[in-house]
Amino acid sequence: MCGIFGIVTEKEQNLGPILVDAARRLTYRGYDSVGAATISGDKIDLRKDAGRVDDVAARYNLQEMTGQRGITQLRWATFGEPSQVNSQPHLDSDGDMVGAHNGNVVNNVELREQFMAEGMTVRSHNDGESCIHAVERYIDKGFGFIDSIRKAYDDLQGDYAFVIGRIDDDKLYAIKKGSGLVVGIGEGFTCVSSDLPSILPLTRKVIRLEDGEIITLWHDRVELHSVKDGSLIEREPEIITEEMGAVQKGGFAHFMLKEIHEQPKVAAELLHFLENSASVQVILDKIKKARHVYFIGCGTSYHACMAGSVYFAKYANTAVIPVLAPQFTAQYLPAVTPEDVGIFVSQSGETKDVLNALQYAQAAGMTCFGMANVIGSTLSRVTEAWLPLCCGYEISVPATKTLTNQVITFLYLATRLGRRDVKALDQLPVLMEETIAHTDPQVQALVEDINQWNDLYSLGYGITYPTALEGALKFKEVTYAHCEGMLSTEFKHGPLSAVSKGFPVFFIAGPEDVPLIVSGINEVTCRGGRAIVFSEYDERLKANASDLVTIPTSNAAFASLLAVLPLQLLSYYVAVARGFDPDFPRNLSKTLTVD
Ligand code: G6P
Repeated sequence: MCGIFGIVTEKEQNLGPILVDAARRLTYRGYDSVGAATISGDKIDLRKDAGRVDDVAARYNLQEMTGQRGITQLRWATFGEPSQVNSQPHLDSDGDMVGAHNGNVVNNVELREQFMAEGMTVRSHNDGESCIHAVERYIDKGFGFIDSIRKAYDDLQGDYAFVIGRIDDDKLYAIKKGSGLVVGIGEGFTCVSSDLPSILPLTRKVIRLEDGEIITLWHDRVELHSVKDGSLIEREPEIITEEMGAVQKGGFAHFMLKEIHEQPKVAAELLHFLENSASVQVILDKIKKARHVYFIGCGTSYHACMAGSVYFAKYANTAVIPVLAPQFTAQYLPAVTPEDVGIFVSQSGETKDVLNALQYAQAAGMTCFGMANVIGSTLSRVTEAWLPLCCGYEISVPATKTLTNQVITFLYLATRLGRRDVKALDQLPVLMEETIAHTDPQVQALVEDINQWNDLYSLGYGITYPTALEGALKFKEVTYAHCEGMLSTEFKHGPLSAVSKGFPVFFIAGPEDVPLIVSGINEVTCRGGRAIVFSEYDERLKANASDLVTIPTSNAAFASLLAVLPLQLLSYYVAVARGFDPDFPRNLSKTLTVD
């Protein structure tokens, strides 16, 4: 998802390296275009294009840009194709203001027509440009900057944040409505960004903005105003103590591989946290009394919800409805009552689909809890209680360590609710470590063959069904192949017709479901297909599978989690073999703040 960064210094200086570094630190959000603008006196220098940060920086020599103020933006296309003209920042009609946004202006099409009818110069199809013209409209009518932004806010529908500045001034202005925005206060400069990773290398003194707030940045101070009535808001800065080490690759070729390897460590930290968290009991007490329980998420987080619902049924005798966030709203909302409980799951805590569902659920009186990785995210702030995933920064767009910690959180909750031995979960980090070490060479041996195929299936049953879906999603995200996740027993009801010689089908086998999986394997292999099985070592599987990727022996719950790890590794290695960057798959974004 788009990311913005702006900085204000005292006098003109070389801002290029700061802007490029900030842009690099926003890349984890996913993007297709890059731009930077600097402002000094009566000059604006604007350079931008579609492409990766390092390519655009090299092509346009962003490093050399100088100014007293600077803005950089990474764009993930929603309105207008990825192109030079649609890249951000954008100028106003006569080129004396420049700004960039993150989010979605949903009435962009109507606004563009209005701006053109009013005689403004509209250069792109991008909704970020509409933010600039919406301010220009009122500046031209003689309103001050803050009042112009307040009026623009009324005209711009959707969820967004934008930063804007103009020539012959020394300030930048930014506003938050729905999208994240954090301000940094340093020695001799102030800055503003969509997220902390681009701020923390510069300063640890930050102010988090709330929706409906406008920030004015001078080089030595900031001022916060309410959009509603223009009144001044007092907010003390906070000092962030979080470590930034995780933002480096630490010797790994990609963040994705690093984050896969971090899973045992963050799992141990999570378990330690859960054992001491007061929120766990609060959540379980509500679930015990609930009429219906929903686990709600999107993408990978939805797969964690599915795994959670299996654990709750198996280990706590509690039926839970796992549901994709928009479908929750479309299907279940009319049936929701204040006796119901929902856990909203999102690594970013900002996924718009999830926040929309949460808003509706809260309005219907449902008790809403959260599970998120990003501290300070919307989900963590607006739910009745929330559980942090304790993963540190996850930079790679495909979620790995946040998925396993979501699943472990659900397993922990189910184990506690079912009055089982939570201490047994402490074996998980070591088992995860062994799984990574043992399966890495096994999956690497498969890469060359798997790489030949652009159509695959990933099948699981019962407790491993969510694992199969997650394996398929990971494979699709980073290899760009079509990989369909499915309940193994459904394969014979249609997809079996796709099987030809060597056609790869992944089977994720739980220790309790081996006989059934053996049948599925044979349906594939007897037609010439290749059944690649991920499971604990089992003679029956060994005898029937084409390949057996073995994970350590434990139990059904652990196996369903451990089997995710070789699927992540296989996806990673195939992506690298294809020459793709697994950290930033094309077209995808880590934080999807649009509908
Ligand atoms: C995007 C990402 C997915 C992610 C999903 C949900 O689509 O590309 O990898 O699973 O959002 O993200 P969340 O932050 O809510 O877990």
